[in-house]
Amino acid sequence: MALEIVILAAGQGKRMVSELPKVLHPIGGKPMLQHLLETTAQLKPQQTHIVVGYGKEQVVSTIENQFSNSTPTKITSQFNWVTQNKQQGTADAVLQALPHIDSNATVLILNGDTPLISLQTLQKIAQSENKLNLLTAKPHDPSGLGRIIRNDKNQIIGIIEQKDASEQQQKIAEVNTNCLSVKAACLAKWLPQITCQNAQKEYYLTDVIACAVADGIEIVGIQSDFMNDFMSETFGVNSKADLSKLERLYQARIAERIMAGGVMLMDANRFDVRGTCQFGTDCVVDINVILEGTVKIGNRVSIAPNTLLRNTTIGDGCVIQANSVIDNAIIGNHCNIGPFARIRPETVLNDEVRIGNFVEVKKSTLGKKSKVNHLSYVGDSQVGNNVNIGAGVITCNYDGANKHRTIIGNDVFVGSNSQLIAPLEIGDGATVAAGSTITENIQKNSLAVGRARQIAIDNWQRPQRPERGEQK
Ligand code: UD1
Ligand code: MG
Repeated sequence: MALEIVILAAGQGKRMVSELPKVLHPIGGKPMLQHLLETTAQLKPQQTHIVVGYGKEQVVSTIENQFSNSTPTKITSQFNWVTQNKQQGTADAVLQALPHIDSNATVLILNGDTPLISLQTLQKIAQSENKLNLLTAKPHDPSGLGRIIRNDKNQIIGIIEQKDASEQQQKIAEVNTNCLSVKAACLAKWLPQITCQNAQKEYYLTDVIACAVADGIEIVGIQSDFMNDFMSETFGVNSKADLSKLERLYQARIAERIMAGGVMLMDANRFDVRGTCQFGTDCVVDINVILEGTVKIGNRVSIAPNTLLRNTTIGDGCVIQANSVIDNAIIGNHCNIGPFARIRPETVLNDEVRIGNFVEVKKSTLGKKSKVNHLSYVGDSQVGNNVNIGAGVITCNYDGANKHRTIIGNDVFVGSNSQLIAPLEIGDGATVAAGSTITENIQKNSLAVGRARQIAIDNWQRPQRPERGEQK
């Protein structure tokens, strides 16, 4: 039995109050629609039709890019993008996809705004014979959703949208998720019969239930098994408040998985992953830590509060102190970073490097055991092993037009408050006197002093303030 999937993603999502098409709003840093497509791909459907309308080009290019490593122009799509020119309702959206669907197929229909639905649940729904399988839920707050109408034999006989429901019907706890599967031939018969005589003047997909009842097609209501304390996997996003709630559900799931892998999260509610991450053993993560992109963390790493790690690899035994930002960097083993450090893209720190407070490192490599402990900027530099860079040292890498490199050998000592004007090379074992402005290369093992010589004026008289009341 061939399975084809239809995902409804044409709406703007007016209640989001945003120019971004609703299905592109992110959960865990990834568009909602991408979450859903990653799950549905595991059902190995014959074809996946995605109905788009509002912001169509943006939806197509964003999703195609996410699923392909090639440039957008080279993509041969694995999805069938179907355009719904006017968003006239969910039944109309499915109708646009219908001509592309094999008439013998079973069709699984899903809302693009329900991203966390699980594979297990979809598998249950997708197994349809000549029946209509409908996923329903009993959320804590059903407001705004379509209510399931059952007869006295507990059979589903209809769905009524909140806006069309009587006060009595609004008390029904069971709601529609818009996740259903049915034969394509049934849809072909029913969808053209659906009218827009309702409060929203839209063609409602939910009306297929009444069609199935009229045709004697059995309706199987299936409830999701996956609920947590406050919400289920079937939660659909209609507003920013919904998006925020679902983000918390997603983060709670990720945090649980990470803790099951042995990581100590001091507070699972104050830890966010916006991408993918991997931890070794015995890591401890304090509060308000955000991991973005692809983050790999070794064994016995401790991460202090208010830290952002983006596309970064961290070696074993590292200590990342509070309020540090590490972006697109590779950090070796046993490094100590922060507090208040900023490590910018293309930085490589070798083992046992120490980066202290208010230090910025950009596009630089630091050799083993080198230290930059206080208030410095190291940019476009190659720093050897065992180098000590004192407080307030600045590599002046930019002349207003071009960036230049600073090459520092092994065992170099750079005294505090020195400026290293690039391009510059400092040989192994050299010493830079504190307060120097270095403009020329320094030979190995030599001392460079680049500052005004100190002078002394004996018995210096400081200017005097006039006495109170005295004329100036
Ligand atoms: C819909 C259901 C409601 C259900 C809820 C679950 C209908 C009429 N109502 O309501 O019973 O409880 O989902 O979340 O189906 N879309 C299109 N084209 C359109 C209109 C919508 O592609 O013309 C897409 C949207 O982009 C969205 C999905 O269909 O992804 C659902 O639309 P939405 O407006 O969010 O419907 P709900 O009000 O949530
Ligand atoms: Mg919705």
